[in-house]
Amino acid sequence: MTDGIRIAGLRKVFADGTVGLDGVTFDAAPGEFIAILGRSGAGKSTLLRCASRLVEPTAGTVLLGGTDLTAARGRALARARAKVGFVFQQFNLIKSYTSLENVLVARISHRPWLAGLVGLWTDADRALARQSLEDVGLAGKFDTPVRSLSGGQQQRVAVARAFAQEPLAIFADEPTASLDPNLAATVLAMLRDYGRARGVPVLVNVHTIEHARRYADRILGMAAGRLVHDGPASELTDAAVEAIYATPKTATEDAA
Ligand SMILES: Nc1ncnc2c1ncn2[C@@H]1O[C@H](COP(=O)(O)OP(=O)(O)O)[C@@H](O)[C@H]1O
Ligand SMILES: [Mg+2]
Repeated sequence: MTDGIRIAGLRKVFADGTVGLDGVTFDAAPGEFIAILGRSGAGKSTLLRCASRLVEPTAGTVLLGGTDLTAARGRALARARAKVGFVFQQFNLIKSYTSLENVLVARISHRPWLAGLVGLWTDADRALARQSLEDVGLAGKFDTPVRSLSGGQQQRVAVARAFAQEPLAIFADEPTASLDPNLAATVLAMLRDYGRARGVPVLVNVHTIEHARRYADRILGMAAGRLVHDGPASELTDAAVEAIYATPKTATEDAA
């Protein structure tokens, strides 16, 4: 159980002047599953990357587990990043490592840094990594190199890695875009169930409106780096969807 996450005034101006995020503010409650919709270029990826410090925000705050992630520097930054389990569209696994080794990578931030670097995992780390793989239905694949797994299995390893991080929030950036619809549904259900069971907010960028309606508690709509919709998934009308996708695409520093 966490306090949830509070994002306030989050802004990102890229080096070329593109405004990727134009002041985004919202809270996510513990266990809440939020789907973020918006057309390509709306700022969905930039939101999740800035909120987890994978990309440096220009302004704003992100409160998670009692700390402001945007204020962390040096070693504290690595610890701050580790509070968010991030699931990528392209999995971002180490292909030559086994499933278990990939999931153990998530434990680095929980070990003294040198022990993590040389792979001195504790029995508790290994037990948690195995449990996480079991939780995503990969109990038989601990020692299989990731490169010989299917795409759906690889994404489940990535989800297990996020779980093994014992995160205070999970962000997933189009995690199902390279999966077939059945696997996509399985992965979304796993993320939702994990969040509910642990009281961890889960933010997912999705491109399938049906999936957003079916799995999310709440839907945020983004356009031109701003939030243009916020409401319960059960009340998402076709008109609201049209409005989210109709809004012009890019903001620039001049127009802002
Ligand atoms: N590194 C970058 N440099 C300049 N502009 C960028 C960079 N990354 C993203 N953008 C721009 O920021 C805006 C938001 O992009 P993004 O967050 O990737 O949108 P989405 O994920 O909704 O498709 C777009 O206009 C995109 O072109
Ligand atoms: Mg994106």
